[in-house]
Amino acid sequence: MRTLSIHLGHDANACIYDSETLDFHYIKEERVSGQKHDQASNKIVRFINKLPKVDIVALSYGHLKNINEMTLYHFNSNWDEFHKVAIKDIRSLSNNFPKLIYKKFWLKKYYEILEKTNNLNIPVYCVQHDYAHILSGWTLGINYNYGISIDGCGPDNNNKLIIKNPFNLKDTETIFFSRLNITPHRNINAEEMSYKNSLGPPLSYIGRLMGLGGLNHDLAGKIMGISAYGKIRDDIVKDFDNKCVDVSKFQITQFCKDIFKKFLDVNVLLLDEDYTEKCNAKNQEFLDIIASIQHIWKKTVLLLFNKFIPKNSTVIYSGGCAQNTITNKALLKDYPNLDIVPHCYDGGLSLGCLAFVILKHNLQFPKLENFPYIQTDMSVDPPSETTIKQVAKLLAEGKIVGWYQGHGEVGPRALGNRSILMNPSIENAKDILNSKVKHREHWRPFAPSIMEEYASDWFDIEKSKYMMIAANVHEDKRKLIPAVTHKDGTSRIQTVALEDNNIFYNLLKEFYSITNIPMLLNTSLNKGGGPIVGDPSQAIDIYNDTELDALCVGDQLYVKNYELIKVNNGS
Ligand SMILES: [Fe+2]
Repeated sequence: MRTLSIHLGHDANACIYDSETLDFHYIKEERVSGQKHDQASNKIVRFINKLPKVDIVALSYGHLKNINEMTLYHFNSNWDEFHKVAIKDIRSLSNNFPKLIYKKFWLKKYYEILEKTNNLNIPVYCVQHDYAHILSGWTLGINYNYGISIDGCGPDNNNKLIIKNPFNLKDTETIFFSRLNITPHRNINAEEMSYKNSLGPPLSYIGRLMGLGGLNHDLAGKIMGISAYGKIRDDIVKDFDNKCVDVSKFQITQFCKDIFKKFLDVNVLLLDEDYTEKCNAKNQEFLDIIASIQHIWKKTVLLLFNKFIPKNSTVIYSGGCAQNTITNKALLKDYPNLDIVPHCYDGGLSLGCLAFVILKHNLQFPKLENFPYIQTDMSVDPPSETTIKQVAKLLAEGKIVGWYQGHGEVGPRALGNRSILMNPSIENAKDILNSKVKHREHWRPFAPSIMEEYASDWFDIEKSKYMMIAANVHEDKRKLIPAVTHKDGTSRIQTVALEDNNIFYNLLKEFYSITNIPMLLNTSLNKGGGPIVGDPSQAIDIYNDTELDALCVGDQLYVKNYELIKVNNGS
């Protein structure tokens, strides 16, 4: 059976899977188009058009009424019926909901894709957005007792979903599904409806107040690191403890709006105003409020877990908020068997939709031997041992090196195939990297990738394969790796074992043999906040347009300092 699964909207992506041949493809629009978070579908359509007609389609379509009505997600019909049900559902939301036009646009795009690929009259499944986030965790395993998705803000404000037995469709049970109201929202504006109790807006508001560029889902990530520069205020925490009587009803966005108003006289609903004079990284009061908001944000997630999920359960955690690495570390105390999906944002939704079809039809899951390096992008031949040694030497000498190997990573983090690497022991490496290549805000930390067997010598965790957890750097080691030790002594590490990525592991090993440091600073191979590259020519553009010292694409090593490469080659 051939399945096509698609998510449109931001971070558009698609999967094609043949369950007989096990042929599997996963593609993200932004890696092809070069536009970060791209939601257009033109490139994906062209990609899909090259492939044969499929037998079944699964769409990430999150506007259905109630996840308990599981039949809605199973519904198996021709396009006309899908269109009729979907339109009826959209109309039920609101007569004047501004996003209506946008949603119609999505439907139109889905229709165009299915029409172009001659797939209009085959079964179509609609997989609810949050459920698709959870199901996308099949890539890590399917034996989880609980699945939880906490999204930034959802299409129906249905941004928190907890499911028991998420991968066993017959025993699946909805434990908690958060939304303001399941009846039509006729007297509520879009801002209120979408953002009232979502966990994403409080963090993205901070970025907006600071005047940072980018979409809301970028801002939450950008400001995560800045909370380390503030002090948690007892009065705000006490206020939270008083007001958050029942976490399932707690409206965190409203709570944070009130904080901004009370302490800074800022109205976050009027974000067109310029608040940067008081909302900036030099204002300690603002930094203290950010630290307090991050703290209550973490507490809210912990309370939510504790209310609905028994401690020590096996849990798969997804949704955009699962990218908060500080909170993830705190969760491990009660949930040591917690797995966090590396593609927990919308860029992984087609993987969740595919899982639904596989479970529904008792098909075999694809064998993802190279996970998480599963992008269907341009691969290259591996580097030789000599090239790896040359790169390790350049890094030990303090050079900034671009690194393009194999296929790209599934999620938004570079995990050693689409990376910019640097020596983490260099005191001002962060500033050098920012001034020459990355141009990020100074408070944002860089992460390390470490040989897994040495992780516990340097950090307070032993394993973190996907950079989803902020570990503590041992105090006596902090001065040795200043470039990857954040202000609060944490580090968002990736542990690398030989079997995970032998090429990257061997590079780490070579670097270790020269420096006695078993890790490298590892950040994504992109430029100016763009998407991670998906083609060697894009990597070469970055090499030419920035002050990258060297670039290794497969076995091809480009070095700007000719004298240096002469020495390395021994010629
Ligand atoms: Fe989402």
